[in-house]
Amino acid sequence: MGKKNIDWENLGFGYVKTDKRFVSNFKNGAWDEGALVEDDTITISECAGVLQYAQTVFEGLKAYTTEKGQIVIFRPDLNAERLEASAKRLEMPVFPRDKFIDAVVKTVEANEAYVPPYGSGATLYIRPYMFGNSPVIGVKPAEEYQFRVFTTPVGPYFKGGAKPITIKVSDFDRAAPHGTGNIKAGLNYAMSLHAIVTAHEEGFDENMYLDAATRTKVEETGGANFLFVTKDGKVVTPKSDSILPSITRRSLVAVARDYLGLEVEEREVYFDEVKDFAECGLCGTAAVISPVGRINDHGNVINFPSGMDDMGPVTKKLYDTLTGIQMGRLDAPEGWIKVIK
Ligand code: PLP
Ligand code: COI
Repeated sequence: MGKKNIDWENLGFGYVKTDKRFVSNFKNGAWDEGALVEDDTITISECAGVLQYAQTVFEGLKAYTTEKGQIVIFRPDLNAERLEASAKRLEMPVFPRDKFIDAVVKTVEANEAYVPPYGSGATLYIRPYMFGNSPVIGVKPAEEYQFRVFTTPVGPYFKGGAKPITIKVSDFDRAAPHGTGNIKAGLNYAMSLHAIVTAHEEGFDENMYLDAATRTKVEETGGANFLFVTKDGKVVTPKSDSILPSITRRSLVAVARDYLGLEVEEREVYFDEVKDFAECGLCGTAAVISPVGRINDHGNVINFPSGMDDMGPVTKKLYDTLTGIQMGRLDAPEGWIKVIK
């Protein structure tokens, strides 16, 4: 199939309308078969659960063109599993995992012309999501839901791609203990908008959120988990019940241990320790691994030894190995890669 005439190399992380999207509706206690449609708009009740009480959850994954020209997706079973956890937490019906993967595959196939070519630096971002669309006015779950999947070709999440970014320690909290920080709910992102706009106005690329209860421990950013590297080459990643269980982070832990032979610690990370790390990065589907060169904590600046020009050496190895697996240059662990065609 011919590709669309898109300047792949210069794509940012934005929305580009593609040809088809998948839609399935939940009514009378059951999901329908679902279908690919062309219409990118949605008409719902003015009183829909999603509009009134933010009953919506989503996922994010990517389709890649490999070195050999195949189109693949990365660990979609984990996205299906996480969407299930998110839906349950917001009292929404579960979209079956096998149907989730099927819907993602169909949507990518239908938009094959938008899957960026190998080596372009771009990928096809896939956004599955689900929301309450029947009217609710008393605070309760909707009775009807819609599940959709759309795709959009994207470039790097942060301008400059692999260039180190500068972040600030936020004065706002992202997630409360026992709250919804560990699921992918739209509400977590709505409440981070003021913090991110504020950070951007102050010249920072992102926020580091600390734990809401004690403000002593590192949580995550608005859209990615943290990875640190110690001066003796250990990978350290924060563990918390109020951060999103990032699929990229979980994969990188395996890559560090099994491909690179590195020691990995998944544990609580105190902000006080951060100044002693050699490297810092943000990891996620959109972020891949974005190196952090500098953290500003209310005027106290931490400059990582890896500097502001390049990724640190361990971060770079992790990045090269993960993207090598995703782009088919390296053998993947069993079950990580689903070939679409
Ligand atoms: N943390 C947050 C808040 C996110 O929105 C994301 C993005 O999905 C991640 C972490 C990274 O998760 P994943 O690697 O599964 O994309
Ligand atoms: C992703 O990485 O898929 C996300 O959903 C993060 C979002 C901030 C774009």
